[in-house]
Amino acid sequence: MSEIEIYPVPKDLAAKAHMDAAGYEAARKAARETPDAYWSNAAKRLDWMTFPTKIKDVSFNKADFRIKWFEDGVLNVSANCIDRHLPARKDEVAIIWEGDEPTDSEHVTYGQLHDRVSRLSNVLKSSGVKKGDRVTIYMPMIPEAAYAMLACARIGAVHSVIFGGFSPDSIAGRIEDCQSTFVITANEGCRGGKRVPLKANVDKALEKVSVEKVLVLRHTDTATPMAEGRDIDWQTAVDAASPDCPPEPMGAEDPLFILYTSGSTGKPKGVLHTTGGYLLWASWTHEHVFDYRAGEVFWCTADVGWVTGHSYAVYGPLANAATTLFFEGIPNYPTVSRFWDVVDKHKVNIFYTAPTAIRALMKDGDDPVKSSSRASLRLLGTVGEPINPEAWRWYHEVVGNGKLPIVDTWWQTETGGILISPLPGATDLKPGSATKPLPGIELEIVDADGQVLEGVTEGNLCITDSWPGQMRTVYGDDARFFETYFSTYKGKYFTGDGCRRDEDGYYWITGRVDDVINVSGHRMGTAEVESALVLHHDVAEAAVVGFPHDIKGQGIYAYVTLNADVMPSEELRRALIAQVRNEIGPIAAPDVIQWAPALPKTRSGKIMRRILRKIAENEIGALGDTSTLADPSVVDDLVKNRAAAK
Ligand code: WTA
Repeated sequence: MSEIEIYPVPKDLAAKAHMDAAGYEAARKAARETPDAYWSNAAKRLDWMTFPTKIKDVSFNKADFRIKWFEDGVLNVSANCIDRHLPARKDEVAIIWEGDEPTDSEHVTYGQLHDRVSRLSNVLKSSGVKKGDRVTIYMPMIPEAAYAMLACARIGAVHSVIFGGFSPDSIAGRIEDCQSTFVITANEGCRGGKRVPLKANVDKALEKVSVEKVLVLRHTDTATPMAEGRDIDWQTAVDAASPDCPPEPMGAEDPLFILYTSGSTGKPKGVLHTTGGYLLWASWTHEHVFDYRAGEVFWCTADVGWVTGHSYAVYGPLANAATTLFFEGIPNYPTVSRFWDVVDKHKVNIFYTAPTAIRALMKDGDDPVKSSSRASLRLLGTVGEPINPEAWRWYHEVVGNGKLPIVDTWWQTETGGILISPLPGATDLKPGSATKPLPGIELEIVDADGQVLEGVTEGNLCITDSWPGQMRTVYGDDARFFETYFSTYKGKYFTGDGCRRDEDGYYWITGRVDDVINVSGHRMGTAEVESALVLHHDVAEAAVVGFPHDIKGQGIYAYVTLNADVMPSEELRRALIAQVRNEIGPIAAPDVIQWAPALPKTRSGKIMRRILRKIAENEIGALGDTSTLADPSVVDDLVKNRAAAK
């Protein structure tokens, strides 16, 4: 890998950063050797009602499996993100909102945030929401989404945020899974000049499942039908509510939120995060990975419907009293300069986005970037998928004028926050590598049999010990939690990712090794897309795999076998895509459908996805051993018909 260039830590940065190279090594050693002392000390960054005396209590083994951090500590997340900042920062800006139209923006101070969250908390309480109840949030990327999350945290309710791109069926499934009783939504969202019918989607979902109340924000002036006795008007309710709502004392291990994410099998699972460990991890990583300094404007472009939005648009920055920027729109509306115009307009210091956005903007060349000054920017970050070195270099050279460090941050919904990333003052950068694990993160690369691989190697990425931000369970299904993450390699958390380690001990994530595909940084289970396809009455069978896509990273390739009496047609192709959009949401729509008279199966009937992946990738010469197939001629047919797929 000697052709990979190294970008050393700028000297001035090392001198003033939160952590330099020596500090990083010392922290790794301390977190490994004396975890209780290290994390007890780190926990002082939060405001506790009762400071914890029990720090870490963890076992990844089946017999005594448990993950507990700061167990006897008591705190409230909303008090940590708002109230404790009031004495010094009441009039400083907590949230900058930039609307879909460049003419729309708003500044919310910490004082205003306190008032709005407290009133909303009282609305929830007076509508019957109690500690431990599950509240579904389906909102655009507007400050009210953060108010909703923080109000739940304030009264001890557990939020489940659903991304606005998911369909009514997906909403219904998630409401049902966690038996949520209350929904918070807006009439519409605005993206790229178009309207997203959020409330209408909720209404459709509620034809399938029922909840007690729906709180509706009128975000646009489009009229919204309200269901008598069920729907509550946000503005009327908060205007009438008291601005005084003391934060509920919560145990560190009390649930904070559920976030649904796709796995390799079955329905999306409700990843559960708890109060103390999650907040500590979000706050600690936000400060160290982004080398955040007081007063800076931090912009994470992720929607709050994803974990990145939870940890780095809401909880991490607000816990650290930062100014966080919420952008409702999209990168190419009204022009492809929008990101950089917003950076200039709001003097953004730290900018954190996904490789897919960088690749899409890179296509339009340098001019739309160079028309902005970007003078306020100090640090860049990426998340969600591997970044190809070309995109990394463009981001560095064009967006960062060849000067700004880039933190390529690897993590997962399950991990709560960043686990592998450069620290700007400590780690030399290599384009395409997330570099090294943070303090407290003990990695292992293993082969398919679980043999630990040492030195320069490639294999499956595991984590051998717990960290405070780790998910605690799959909501309502402890057995599935253990089975999914801890049973493949005994005593270890298996990430589902492949990974290479180079001669400098740098980690290079190579992508998922399970049946999860990563489309524009969004996780999609192939099984989910397959289930949506086979619901169509003309479909006998479907198999879905990922394939390399210039902008999205991976695209969705579906092989569909129709019922014997059905002929393929363009109309049917469109109907199948519509079917997936309805069942899951637009983000799951297949990019390619190939009609497959039959699928390659082993003699025991198992679909051989390895072969389907190779055909989708157009690696026809590398199909490997097909002799175990029940009918090898199936493969010839698929190869022959590949060209006709679209
Ligand atoms: C992938 C998003 C390479 C990985 C925070 C992981 C990455 C999955 C990176 C989790 C990165 C995330 N480099 N791959 N910097 N960050 N991934 O749960 O495959 O939506 O397992 O969390 O995204 O996706 P999730």
